[in-house]
Amino acid sequence: MTYEQRAAHTKAFQEDRFGMFIHWGLYAIPARTPGAEWFKFHDKTSNEDYQKYFDEFNPVHYNPKEWAALAKRAGMKYAVLTTKHHDGFCLFDSKFTDYTAVNTPAGRDLVREYVDAFRAEGIKVGFYYSVIDWYHDDYPIVDGNHPMREDEEFKARPRNWENYLTYMHNQVRELCTNYGQIDVFWFDYSYGEMTGEKWEATKLVNMIRELQPTAVIDNRLGGNCLSAEPEVYAGDFYSPEQIIPAEGCLDELGRPVPWEACITLNDYWGYVSQDQNYKSAQIVVRMLIECVSKGGNLLINVGPTAKGEFPKGTVKVFEEVAEWMHQNSDSIYGCGKADLPKPEWGRYTQRGNKLYAHIFERGTAAFRFDGLKDKVKKARLLMDGSERVLFEPWYGTKYQSGAFIDLGTADLPDPLATVVELELL
Ligand code: GLC
Repeated sequence: MTYEQRAAHTKAFQEDRFGMFIHWGLYAIPARTPGAEWFKFHDKTSNEDYQKYFDEFNPVHYNPKEWAALAKRAGMKYAVLTTKHHDGFCLFDSKFTDYTAVNTPAGRDLVREYVDAFRAEGIKVGFYYSVIDWYHDDYPIVDGNHPMREDEEFKARPRNWENYLTYMHNQVRELCTNYGQIDVFWFDYSYGEMTGEKWEATKLVNMIRELQPTAVIDNRLGGNCLSAEPEVYAGDFYSPEQIIPAEGCLDELGRPVPWEACITLNDYWGYVSQDQNYKSAQIVVRMLIECVSKGGNLLINVGPTAKGEFPKGTVKVFEEVAEWMHQNSDSIYGCGKADLPKPEWGRYTQRGNKLYAHIFERGTAAFRFDGLKDKVKKARLLMDGSERVLFEPWYGTKYQSGAFIDLGTADLPDPLATVVELELL
């Protein structure tokens, strides 16, 4: 894809701006650190010892309609679920392995229910798929990233790389063909020699393009999506993890590249029962604003419990985010970087001639937008549509000009982020 083709291909994805990442699997039973979804790795657990979680996995409260309803309320436009994580366990039914939710006490394809529920809410559907596999007998590398790294007998076993590749490609084909339109493919991850064509990544991506022509694909098959001439498998978007890059993401020619920051809500991706270190709704909203102000998306994570529910702490934060999004999502969807420097008091986003000022700090007296004197047609508080009259206080003429409005209160009307919609002339 050329730069322009990629921009067109990712347009809707980039307009959506806000998604929900869901890390769910057997690791929700041990639910502990170190490790969380890397638990098997940290504890150097063999397949045999990990089997007890498979035999017990029974998410009696799994109701993806509730998950989808909450995602909808919170303003998330797409979701990405771990169909298979590094431990190799599949939440979906697969002809190519028995190691799936169907053969646990859950007894069914849990991905199908997720797809149906999210689609019914109008939320786009994404699949995370780990190309790393700690369960498959033919997964070739038992290195420092593998649970069995210290087991000499295991390491010495013969392995057939082609078998694993065929398995992995077959599973991706199942994900492409059994669930209708898939909007996002989120592969994870490449390192060392396990990268790019080692995965037969060109072939894999060409298959997805053929079967799911509208899907967007992340960049973790190992290509360089910041290159001026990215490989076929370089991915449609860059996926910074646990960080919002200072300048957003630019390619080597300095042109903006589609990107999505994936960030945990507390400390881990998979459910950890003691992990109460939740980011507040204010932080989440401000992270989202920061991403949009730099031209990116935010994929915020939830790790459901072994019983299939979102942790209470997650629900609480997402519900508060929902309230803010209900009033302010116009400043998020379809918005991007503004043609102005970052202001002292917060951040701008922009869509066409609508400039959205996200105010985090109230400041003193009347509120001033630098550089916008005589450039604003009207100003409205986004939360309630109320008019904010533009005026020029005496100290404006005397000390510093700009477009001034009266915010009216000593405290900000919305402590998460108060948004003023400025229609530019
Ligand atoms: C990582 C981790 C993983 C997590 C992912 C999310 O690469 O291996 O556990 O799923 O990033 O971005």
